[in-house]
Amino acid sequence: METVLSGIRPTGNLHLGNYFGAVKSFVQMQNEYDCYFFIADWHSLTTCPKPEDIQRSVRTILVEYLACGIDPEKATIYMQSDVKEILELYLFFNMNAYLGELERTTTFKEKARKQPDNVNAGLLTYPTLMAADILIHKADKVPVGKDQEQNMEMARRFARRFNTIYGVEFFKEPQSFYFSEKALKVPGLDGSGKMGKSEGNCIYLKDEPDVIRKKVMKAVTDNGPQEPNSPKPEVIENLFTFLGIVSDKETYDYFNEKWNDCSIRYGDLKKKIAEDIVAFNTPIREKIQEFSANQALLDKIINEGADKAREHVQKTIREVREIVGFRTY
Ligand code: TYM
Repeated sequence: METVLSGIRPTGNLHLGNYFGAVKSFVQMQNEYDCYFFIADWHSLTTCPKPEDIQRSVRTILVEYLACGIDPEKATIYMQSDVKEILELYLFFNMNAYLGELERTTTFKEKARKQPDNVNAGLLTYPTLMAADILIHKADKVPVGKDQEQNMEMARRFARRFNTIYGVEFFKEPQSFYFSEKALKVPGLDGSGKMGKSEGNCIYLKDEPDVIRKKVMKAVTDNGPQEPNSPKPEVIENLFTFLGIVSDKETYDYFNEKWNDCSIRYGDLKKKIAEDIVAFNTPIREKIQEFSANQALLDKIINEGADKAREHVQKTIREVREIVGFRTY
């Protein structure tokens, strides 16, 4: 059976970008594959969060994973920091990762721009840690959103490089997996590129209906189509992308026709998007409350997940040590 792995940094609540870019695939894939879904707590250290913030965010992600339908009976849910073997592989990969290629990654350049006073080595080596996360499980498929494409390419590169340096066929190249036919980028509704925490434009799974309505009604629009069948400017395309994600095809076609014949009313479009998000979020929000109240269950899941994940990586790390020339134990 093929192995699937993916993770999310604990930096707050899950938003619609996380859900439709990644978690929706997790839920589907757990029925067909050997799945490992983790909480990337080491990765969150690149921004130097407070200990209590890490703890709160880790718990939040766990609760929201469960509320979305990830089932610990089907998939292994674990915390990255419970599997120290990842760090050993991270070290091996770092020894063959070059400054130039790490500095050139878009995510590094972006982060370095956003936090110029804290351009740390963790930021620089983010792609090697991510490669270790994936390759320690010898994952075949990695469900991620479009923003992770470059990190995935780096993971494949580190896998190939390890094989070449040691003259082995040890690591397979992991493939990105998208729920839709191509990688998804859930846009922001503020006219900016993507929905993201640092962009401050998120609709969260935990958001109450009124909060959702307010956020959607504030979405940036324009003066409307000036002639029939004109191409949509980016802010309008973003609204239609949302419609495509949360509404049915009939609704999408209806508003698309209205755009094409210039009779579209953005107020109606936004109202429909808001109501469809509310309908989608409501059962998840209820489950978030349910799981939040069950600390004993959360502890059990995380303890069992740690054991299963550790067990799954033992063989890989033993073989890697041997290949690299280290003593095995
Ligand atoms: P993170 O925590 O930023 O996001 C988690 C997942 O959500 C997806 N995502 C989006 N997809 C579409 N549109 C959006 N607007 C959007 N925003 C977020 C991301 O693509 C991601 O799949 N580096 C990863 C975490 C990670 C990881 C891994 C993932 C660490 N190690 C190993 C897979 C495998 C990250 O920062 O994701």
